[in-house]
Amino acid sequence: MAGRRPLSTCWTLFLSLVILLGCFIIPGVSVKHENFKKCSQSGFCKRNRAYADDVSAKGASWSSPYELDSSSIQFKDGQLQGTILKSISAEEKVKLPLVVSFLESGVARVVIDEEKRINGDIELRHNSRARKERYNESEKWVIVGGLELSKSATVESETEAGVTKVLYGPENAYQAVIRHAPFDVEFKRDGQTHVQLNNKGYLNMEHWRPKVDAPEGDDEQKPEQEDEGTWWEETFGGNTDSKPRGPESVGLDITFPGYNHVFGIPEHADSMSLRETRGGSGNHDEPYRLYNADVFEYELNSPMTLYGAIPLMQAHRAGSTVGVFWLNAAETWIDIVKTTSTANPLSLGVGSKMDTQSHWFSEAGQIDLFVFLGPTPQEISKKYGELTGYTQLPQHFAIAYHQCRWNYITDEDVKDVDRNFDKYQIPYDVIWLDLEYLDDRKYFVWDPLTFPNPIGMEEQLDDTERKLVVLIDPHIKNKEKYAISEELQSKNLATLNKDGEIYEGWCWPGSSHWVDCFNPEARKWWKSLFKYEKFKGTLSNVFIWNDMNEPSVFNGPETTMPKDNLHHGNWEHRDIHNVNGITLVNATYDGLLERKKGELRRPFILTRSYYAGAQRMSAMWTGDNQATWEHLAMSLPMVLNNGISGFPFAGADVGGFFHNPSKDLLTRWYQTGIWYPFFRAHAHIDTRRREPYLISEPHRSIIAQAIRLRYQLLPAWYTAFHEASVNGTPIVRPQFYAHPSDEAGFAIDDQLYLGSTGILTKPVVSEGTTTAEIYIADDEKYYDYFDYTVYQGGGKRHTVPAPLEKVPILMQGGHVIPRKDRPRRSSGLMKWDPYTLVVVLDKNSEADGTLYVDDGETFDYERGAYIHRRFHYQDSALSSEDIGTQGPKTADYQKAMANVRVERVVVVDPPKEWQEKTIVTVIEDGAKIASTASIEYYDQQGGKAPYAVVKNPNVSIGKNWRIEF
Ligand code: GLC
Repeated sequence: MAGRRPLSTCWTLFLSLVILLGCFIIPGVSVKHENFKKCSQSGFCKRNRAYADDVSAKGASWSSPYELDSSSIQFKDGQLQGTILKSISAEEKVKLPLVVSFLESGVARVVIDEEKRINGDIELRHNSRARKERYNESEKWVIVGGLELSKSATVESETEAGVTKVLYGPENAYQAVIRHAPFDVEFKRDGQTHVQLNNKGYLNMEHWRPKVDAPEGDDEQKPEQEDEGTWWEETFGGNTDSKPRGPESVGLDITFPGYNHVFGIPEHADSMSLRETRGGSGNHDEPYRLYNADVFEYELNSPMTLYGAIPLMQAHRAGSTVGVFWLNAAETWIDIVKTTSTANPLSLGVGSKMDTQSHWFSEAGQIDLFVFLGPTPQEISKKYGELTGYTQLPQHFAIAYHQCRWNYITDEDVKDVDRNFDKYQIPYDVIWLDLEYLDDRKYFVWDPLTFPNPIGMEEQLDDTERKLVVLIDPHIKNKEKYAISEELQSKNLATLNKDGEIYEGWCWPGSSHWVDCFNPEARKWWKSLFKYEKFKGTLSNVFIWNDMNEPSVFNGPETTMPKDNLHHGNWEHRDIHNVNGITLVNATYDGLLERKKGELRRPFILTRSYYAGAQRMSAMWTGDNQATWEHLAMSLPMVLNNGISGFPFAGADVGGFFHNPSKDLLTRWYQTGIWYPFFRAHAHIDTRRREPYLISEPHRSIIAQAIRLRYQLLPAWYTAFHEASVNGTPIVRPQFYAHPSDEAGFAIDDQLYLGSTGILTKPVVSEGTTTAEIYIADDEKYYDYFDYTVYQGGGKRHTVPAPLEKVPILMQGGHVIPRKDRPRRSSGLMKWDPYTLVVVLDKNSEADGTLYVDDGETFDYERGAYIHRRFHYQDSALSSEDIGTQGPKTADYQKAMANVRVERVVVVDPPKEWQEKTIVTVIEDGAKIASTASIEYYDQQGGKAPYAVVKNPNVSIGKNWRIEF
């Protein structure tokens, strides 16, 4: 927002005073509602809601006007094609081609388009150059696989008239029941219905129609007409949308019978379990909105739109998870209503007795819907990831601690911060530069006065393997003699306005143009800008932050671009708005791959705006939060929800972006932030400096401890990232994901498990609180991470002490947790450090765990350069076995890692007899004779479990070995 820009000149003193005074006032800021549309101010939202109300009011007397023409149906190679006819009148029917694809993966895809639009057989108003088709290219940005059609899907032959049943999925145990008139679809698994389309009758494809001026004369004489008030032009906040194609929205109801919880559809600052949206106590009265936007001072517990959008919803009940993915890049709203289950009596007794009805509507584009039948949350992650891609395995530094603020003001400032972290022995890996490193806010150009020697600065960082991230936004300052701006204009690579002229708007640099990354030429050009010879002053330890890519336009409607702007191929901005942000990230990603010939490193990019698929290229954060306890608390459901929605590399600004956190709040925020997959502190330019070493004791040491804890667990984090990169599993997991049958945990979104490690934490997010009430679902023993206090008893909350200096963490019995315990200045310096393995025994005295290691930098892991181990404890022996795949680079990598060893094994809750033990036997593959290592047993009193420590078993982390106790 323009208001966030720092001001200078003679007002500075006065403003500084005001700001200083402001620091003592508790901020009462909130979003400017008048800048963002409510449903009633958005034509298509209002129309679709009204349509649903009308249908519901008419009840049985009403019938949906959509009918699948039985004679049109064809089924071939796993795909059903046909034509849906929408009756306008007895004579007039609109043809809507339908394609239902049954994919080899067991996912079904339903696409509905409009024939006239496909054929270009429509007229545009205002001599518009916009495309006539419904946007059908989201797939190009989003889908990377999983589209292979099923070979075994078949149409059931014996079936009633007017119904087509398709058997598909694993062992053809899934069934799609397609009713022709009115058109609706039920998806069944093992005979039970899990997902229903149009059973409420809200299917609505606003077909193209010419604008007919109403006949003159007496109102009484006019034929009955629909309310056209929002069809042709819409004005909001002084901006008029010319809508050259008129009304064209698509809407559909999707019901999950027997499901009480739905999750997903980020990004909203709300609970993970989504609320009803049609009013009532504790509910919202607005639908959840997906329209990527820079929402200044966003509010909490709200369905308002935010910066990113992932239209994936999963419905969950005990023993079953199903989901839908609504692939549409236009503005989208989703209503949610829960009713007592009538449709699915079979669900009685298996948990929920509720049906959740969702109603989706998008302003433009096709209906393009993927249906997932689970049955587990893991299956949804896997199948959704097959389609949209898995999380990129990041460079190792990227999962460590990032230090950011707006702004480090000179290269000397950066070097000074860097030295201070070392002085106070606080590890960090990455320092960030926001806007002010730029000369006159010209991206790719350093400020020569404040950053005269960026290379020297980067070299200093590199001495401790540290990295720099710099901000590059998509708006390019409109200025002569700025080469990037001149090229953008002369090569015609920018987004155009509705008249086909270069679009000009207002952002950080003032008057700006926006690179149009839908244009292949623009992407090619953008990529080239990151080459070392082009982006002068950058070394290979520099990475990129793409911000404001919603896009944020300070003077645009709802702080973004006009919907009738034009992108490459003459697609309207309306068509592509929600994927816009990732097109930029895509080009930046390719740019970072090609900075120098032969130098292939995994790119790191942080993006604020996102859509499904962003996980392949970037990390995200929750944007401009505030330094309040409420914002701290909200960060957990937001990060968890992103994780189950396929984009787990997520975090929130540690400390809060706006305003100054108290020392307690900052400390608790670090203790929470160490559980964000993306762990970065950030602060607004008007806030006081708050690098952790600046905070007075005891807070400084407590924060340092928290950061060190993150570093200690980096091997477990990296392993969780690896899992995400191959299976799509969230890196931090909510309760329902870890215990999908435990109903009491479904709505819990303030505690989390780290990967598959069994580490369970509930960060303290309220002021003055000194205990954590941790909910335990199962009957395993859980042990305090630090002192092994035992907590046991499923289905209830346990009080865990959490004074300010303590992060409440439990370890579930049955896991082997890999750690690195030697404190270092950065994660890069820990590369060759030995491991500690913590073996937490379960009820049967067994434990299991995995570890994934690679060079943390290159793509060599794709050719086998990694170590992937399974640790297993059983019958008083701990063994390490290889679960990796062999590749051409495996042997070399293993050789390089041969000296990286296990320096300690801690066994939590060993049998009492171990008291007598002094040595254990160690057998390593390849060693001629077994060796021994010493073991010490520590008895404990007062609810704390005993533990034993094997010192220096001296086994290599990459080899097969066995320790016998
Ligand atoms: C946006 C970002 C914020 C950044 C600022 C200046 O508000 O969300 O993180 O500091 O722009 O670049």
